[in-house]
Amino acid sequence: MTVLVTGGAGYIGSITTRLLVERGFGVVVLDSLELGHRAAVNDVPLVVGNIADSDLVTRVCREHKVSDVVHFAAYKAVGESMQNPTKYFDNNVAGTHSLIAAVVSAGVENVVFSSTAAIYGDPDIVPVTEDAEVRCESVYAATKRMTEQILEWYSATRNLRSVSLRYFNAAGAASDGTLGEDWRYSQNLVPHVMKALLGFAPALKVFGNDYSTPDGTGIRDYIHVEDLAESHVAALQYLRGGGDTMICNVGTGVGTSVMDIISTTERVTGRAVPYDIAPRRAGDPARYFANASKAERVLGWTSRRLLDDIIASAFAWHSAHPHGHAASQA
Ligand code: UD1
Repeated sequence: MTVLVTGGAGYIGSITTRLLVERGFGVVVLDSLELGHRAAVNDVPLVVGNIADSDLVTRVCREHKVSDVVHFAAYKAVGESMQNPTKYFDNNVAGTHSLIAAVVSAGVENVVFSSTAAIYGDPDIVPVTEDAEVRCESVYAATKRMTEQILEWYSATRNLRSVSLRYFNAAGAASDGTLGEDWRYSQNLVPHVMKALLGFAPALKVFGNDYSTPDGTGIRDYIHVEDLAESHVAALQYLRGGGDTMICNVGTGVGTSVMDIISTTERVTGRAVPYDIAPRRAGDPARYFANASKAERVLGWTSRRLLDDIIASAFAWHSAHPHGHAASQA
């Protein structure tokens, strides 16, 4: 029994792949290497190719006796998805559908899917539960919701069960400092804080300090990427144990503002974060964070790491790898 990890050479995918191997799962990675890095996969079997290549996926499933899929491979830049929707619908929806159809035909019964809390848009009530209204405000979020629906329909019609994990804000790096995010491909807060802190950008732009939050800056639920990785293992075990198709939030339940991130970074690293207050970023909600009780109840998963761990691991990773994995390949 082997787990096929698509996008296993990317940020969250590589950290989850390593955890799966550590936990004794057989793993094969499928990654186009367009945004992922060979160095992030180490000695795990890597097939370089596209999720939409049905013949390739079928062959990989047969040759590696694939029983489960953990599906990360997707584009994730919200702004880009609005400028180039075709790219996002093609890859994230059509490509994912090809993948699902091929793996179902090959006898795969379990899929763990990377969904997103962006599906909730600007929720009326926080902490947000899984039954909150779906309010996609970007093509990116819509592609994730469409995939959840495709998976639900395959459950209704074929022998496939799935867990769609709605991630809140993934952040931090592997605690040994060897795997992390490449800030060149990220629009997210923590990599940008580190870029400014380490002198690779003049200053962090704080997108708005006039929100209706205690300090005026946006509030999010930052989840350590290693905790996030553990939720995939828990979801896989749940499915292998016969669990039904479901959707599940993966967050900490704690709301943290941009100013909290800056002050925590300054305390943990002992360095000042240069920042400027900038206008709000279009489409940014004031605040959301997870009600993560379903993950605890159904998967037996809770986040264990703290914001300090997120910042310390991100600092260690970015200090040593300012050019992402390119540095470790050089
Ligand atoms: C973003 C996406 C979301 C996606 C997630 C993970 C949007 C609107 N949402 O979430 O769909 O699932 O990334 O890829 O793009 N901030 C700054 N300065 C920065 C960067 C961010 O002040 O340079 C602030 C933002 O305004 C926000 C918070 O930091 O309040 C977090 O931003 P970010 O890390 O980009 O995540 P989200 O916007 O929550």
